[in-house]
Amino acid sequence: MRVLGIETSCDETGVAIYDSEQGLLGDALYSQVKMHAEYGGVVPELASRDHVRKLLPLLDETFAKAGLARGEVDAVAYTSGPGLIGALMVGASTGRALALAWGVPAIGVHHMEGHLLAPMLEENPPAFPFVALLVSGGHTQLVKVEGIGRYELLGESLDDAAGEAFDKAAKMLDLDYPGGPLIAKHAEQGDRSRFRFPRPMTDRPGMDFSFSGLKTFTLNTSNDHRDAEGKIDSQTICDIAAAFEEAVVDTLAIKCRRALQHTGYKHLVIAGGVSANRRLRERLELMVNKERAELFYARPEFCTDNGAMIAYAGCQRLLAGQQSDLAIVTKPRWPLDTLDAI
Ligand code: KG4
Ligand code: ZN
Repeated sequence: MRVLGIETSCDETGVAIYDSEQGLLGDALYSQVKMHAEYGGVVPELASRDHVRKLLPLLDETFAKAGLARGEVDAVAYTSGPGLIGALMVGASTGRALALAWGVPAIGVHHMEGHLLAPMLEENPPAFPFVALLVSGGHTQLVKVEGIGRYELLGESLDDAAGEAFDKAAKMLDLDYPGGPLIAKHAEQGDRSRFRFPRPMTDRPGMDFSFSGLKTFTLNTSNDHRDAEGKIDSQTICDIAAAFEEAVVDTLAIKCRRALQHTGYKHLVIAGGVSANRRLRERLELMVNKERAELFYARPEFCTDNGAMIAYAGCQRLLAGQQSDLAIVTKPRWPLDTLDAI
């Protein structure tokens, strides 16, 4: 089965064609980050308008890359939530309308299920069951995964998502949006032992997270090191970035270890934008080795938002006989553990 995937839930327009026999046939992505950087974060109305501008040209590009004529697919999958309502509406209405015009089924996909299954697009895909750490700009969740749609939430962030914390910490260090990659870049030049930030909620049992305290720590430490003009010297920015990254990574690793021990599972999957973080991957690799477990993740461009993960997730559900009706449904809020099992 050949499926067109469309992702427009936030600030990336992603399109891809996935074939259940041949794998990924073509994909294209447009990131709006430069446009939003000027405002220090995503402006929802601008995001929707840019998806409208970019989606059709990206669809043409994807069909061309796949060597297919427009519409040569068996189904269309689009992200129907969670995400920004206006942005979701662009992908959902376009995807639903194209499927109707081409006379093929359509399916609305859960964005986080897309992230969770993205490592399946790689050469050594994880086998079920596994523990998944979902770390994106909007979510931080530890999930027990028995199969597609069989998700049990083990823990989640009580306040900011990990990616959101990276973005806010970056702002406090006068770095641009999105902050995750920039914190990571500066942290590489940083002295990881100059500042020690707390590891929130690791001194008590449980698998929930909280990142707001780390934000306060970042704000106070950066303000303590501002000069008369309000500037922080570049080495101190790198040192604070390193301390922040170290604290987040360490905290995530401690909770992932608990989840592996709690479930007895030997496979850990990390997904979502923050799973592109090199330090996190290194730290988790060490942890899983000690636990005699294995770590799985997608290539960096499939960690952040993309169309391939939506095409893949939609394809699995369509193969199981599921599809959406003609209504264009978007769900800005949509808990992962309410999905149907297949
Ligand atoms: O999954 P994603 O592309 O979008 C959402 O669904 O939210 O995740 C975006 C988030 C942003 O907060 C970004 O700062 C973060 O992922 N991110 C990173 C890295 N690359 C992206 N955070 C830490 N290190 C990175 N290398
Ligand atoms: Zn995402």
